[in-house]
Amino acid sequence: PAAAEVNELIGNGGELHQQTSDPAHWLTTNQGLPIADDQNSLKAGDRGPTLLEDFHLREKITHFDHERIPERVVHARGYGAHGYFQAYEGNDELTKAAFLCDSKVKTPVFCRFSTVAGSEGSVDTPRDVRGFAVKFYTSQGNYDLVGNNIPVFFIQDAIKFPDLIHAVKPEPDRAFPQAASAHDTFWDFVSLTPESTHMLMWAMSDRAIPRSLRMMEGFGVHTFRLINAKGKATLVKFHWRPKLGTFSLIWDEAVAIAGADADFHRRDLWDAIQGGDFPEWELSVQAFDEKQAAKFDFDVLDPTKLIPEEIVPLRPLGKMVLNRMPDNFFAETEQVAFCPANLVPGIDLSEDPLLQGRLFSYLDTQLSRLGSANFQEIPINAAKCPWQNMQRDGHMRMRVDPSRTSYEPNSLDMAAPREAGAAGFESFAVPTEGTKLRQRPESFADHYTQAHLFYKSMTETEQRHIVAAFAFELGKCKEVKVRTRMLGRLEHVDPELAKSVADKLGMPGQADKIDPAVPTNFKVKPSPALSQYRD
Ligand code: HEM
Repeated sequence: PAAAEVNELIGNGGELHQQTSDPAHWLTTNQGLPIADDQNSLKAGDRGPTLLEDFHLREKITHFDHERIPERVVHARGYGAHGYFQAYEGNDELTKAAFLCDSKVKTPVFCRFSTVAGSEGSVDTPRDVRGFAVKFYTSQGNYDLVGNNIPVFFIQDAIKFPDLIHAVKPEPDRAFPQAASAHDTFWDFVSLTPESTHMLMWAMSDRAIPRSLRMMEGFGVHTFRLINAKGKATLVKFHWRPKLGTFSLIWDEAVAIAGADADFHRRDLWDAIQGGDFPEWELSVQAFDEKQAAKFDFDVLDPTKLIPEEIVPLRPLGKMVLNRMPDNFFAETEQVAFCPANLVPGIDLSEDPLLQGRLFSYLDTQLSRLGSANFQEIPINAAKCPWQNMQRDGHMRMRVDPSRTSYEPNSLDMAAPREAGAAGFESFAVPTEGTKLRQRPESFADHYTQAHLFYKSMTETEQRHIVAAFAFELGKCKEVKVRTRMLGRLEHVDPELAKSVADKLGMPGQADKIDPAVPTNFKVKPSPALSQYRD
């Protein structure tokens, strides 16, 4: 409403009352009752105790008492923006997903960037992985691409995720530090987890201290499938490339900024978008088929591996522009709920055992974080196309479904929703058979080749930053046995790297001799394509 005329009065106790005679601006209770006085509670006598009868006081304080919801168990600190995605032409060869096929449509998106380890109130520039989650509000339902700014991950199997995060988060007895990597439990866990080696190289590189959210790449990490209208599947890895280029801070800058402006990345995104300088990313895929995949030196279902781009180049699909900040941080950025299981026809999963576990985790955690099975009705989560099904009731149900029936098949309500058949989402028919067992395939066993190639593809300056990061972070780890174990792992990545880190730690020659029979593919040359991941 237009601005109201406000009269200012001083009350008996000298308190200021701002009042208006314009009903459109009246302050009301949640029931719509106009409030006469919002400065004073109801008391027995001039200086008497407050009365329980004061329903206005109770309503106001009760609502305040319940303002907080649990922060996300990981990725708690984040910042988001609205925008749109527009596809390029020619994607229908790969996928039937409507939003990727129609180049005239601008699909609304909401994108949330995050750190992983810190709490909601932590700083923007720690050494950490960054989340890069995009919700596409498509005409066929919401599609979520829930990625990170690093193309690989610490672990290969979802069953290790709680262990990883418990090791990364502050130690339970002291509740510090917030940094992702500067403590005993983190180094203890990763030094005992060889599969984390490749990701550690990225985490200790400049990639883990981005200059700006606008200057970060994003990756789907896992292999996914695109399905075209003829039912043909293509395996893909998703990549977001920022138009501004990929830039990092150096460590001393990151530390100084953390002290001077804990909200550095938030402010940067806010200022850019409010100033009309809209950040843009290109979405691409590396597309390949099962036959090609079978020839790689690694398994495409292993999320600790990337596919070098000289083997499978990027194929652009479209662009995303972020052009509007949320109207309300809590309602939108805090309440948005991403889930890798939010798919549309034309995009399907793979059997990556990390991805398979994620499919369960997000909806499960959101039930407690958002407090109700009906959180998909919150405007930021609601599909922007029609959605209807037989689910009903539950806490905070907003919908009023008029039908007599909430089951199917039914013959009492011929207007009720029905299956879409082949027009709906059908899981791609992946041939599967085998023995039920709890073990990893041998094709997941090489934990060092890509870590080595990554290090070798760095410039001398970047290598120096990696050595300094390992030495600094391991220097915060007080357990000598953990440090020597970690140095032993680094020997498998690159003996020079291990030696430089050991020297900086004042521990020359103290690396443990571990895993003598470690499998590697070092015969593979450092990939020039990997150098594209340099800043
Ligand atoms: C957030 C679980 C691996 C990217 C979350 C949340 C959980 C979770 C419980 C909080 C969600 C919420 O409260 O709304 C897991 C599990 C994983 C896993 C169990 C492995 C088994 C990954 C990987 C990536 C990733 C590999 C990147 C490819 C993200 C992002 C968010 C997130 C970006 C934040 C989403 C947002 O901005 O709200 N994850 N995660 N996670 N995860 Fe994962």
